[in-house]
Amino acid sequence: MSGPNTNFDPVQVTPLNADQVEAMLAEALAAIEAAGNTTDLKQARIAHAGDRSPIALANREIGALPPQARKEAGQRVGRARGEINAAIARREAELKAAELESQLAAEAVDVTVPVATAPVGAPHPVTALMDKMSEVFLALGWEVVEGPELESEWFNFDALNLGPDHPARALQDTLWIDPVADGKCLRTSTSPTQLHTMLERREPPIHVVSPGKVFRADEYDATHLPVFHQIEGLCIDKGIGMAHLRGTLDHFARALFGDVRTRLRPHYFPFTEPSAEVDLECFVCHGESVGNPARPCRTCRSEGWIEWGGCGVVNPRVLVAAGIDPEVYSGFAFGMGVERSVMNRNSATDLRDFVEGDIRFSRSLLGGAR
Ligand code: DAH
Repeated sequence: MSGPNTNFDPVQVTPLNADQVEAMLAEALAAIEAAGNTTDLKQARIAHAGDRSPIALANREIGALPPQARKEAGQRVGRARGEINAAIARREAELKAAELESQLAAEAVDVTVPVATAPVGAPHPVTALMDKMSEVFLALGWEVVEGPELESEWFNFDALNLGPDHPARALQDTLWIDPVADGKCLRTSTSPTQLHTMLERREPPIHVVSPGKVFRADEYDATHLPVFHQIEGLCIDKGIGMAHLRGTLDHFARALFGDVRTRLRPHYFPFTEPSAEVDLECFVCHGESVGNPARPCRTCRSEGWIEWGGCGVVNPRVLVAAGIDPEVYSGFAFGMGVERSVMNRNSATDLRDFVEGDIRFSRSLLGGAR
């Protein structure tokens, strides 16, 4: 009655028991389903389909079964492994798609969202016009020079033939530097650059313009600024006179303001003889408001002309102060207010707008000044 045990019951090999395989499969499928991302899924794959997973270990047991039991156990385990691998592949595809989706969502660019544009600055209208004025003269072959803003009394007054008692020297007009006895002041006009230029160049011909800041002890209001800008012009050569001045100013005015007429009105300046004030034809009414109460013009106060600057034939005394022989050379000079020129060109009416730093002011005038 002895002999090999041919009644070996394969169900007795625990890992291959049908319930056990079903349980492994169910556990594996649950873990795969529960994996919320590809990293979790990788863990689930190692745990439930890797070399040391219960199902892999069960698979190894198959060889230990009696031959007649192997086929059925092999099918059962093989089907379970196939299901597990298929579930992993399915879940992996799902998770990858979801991850791609969320990555795309996170990186999405909405081109319709309004962007905060960095504000762009604008050249100040005074700077823009000074550049333009300089360009007009550069095109004529003139040079652009700069002079110091801190001046000595000699350059600012004496050399320009303003006598010791000239009212402009008074404290209420000129900003003197302490101690006043040292005779240093902030230049009250760009005219001292005439002297600097002539003393530096020595020999005419001289053709220069000099734009820059000037300073006066003035109130700060709609029509006055204690700091403003002028452009000075100086031409010295043989045989230069009033006609050259007139022609140059006409060209200057037309280059800046278009087709306008100029007018010279006799005036007095200590550094020119004869001297004149130069007016521009009113760019608003073109003179039509003059003597016409029905059409008053606020811009020129119905005078038809707007004051632009001063000019004249250089006083021989100024040439002598600069070491230039007035018997050989003569010249003309002019000085224009830059803020006033901007106002003529555009319709700015309050000088305070020039210094308050509101970019809208610069932007609104740019079109005209460039
Ligand atoms: N310096 C004068 C002023 O500030 C302007 C001026 C007038 C300049 C006549 C000149 C000139 O060169 O010839 O009011």
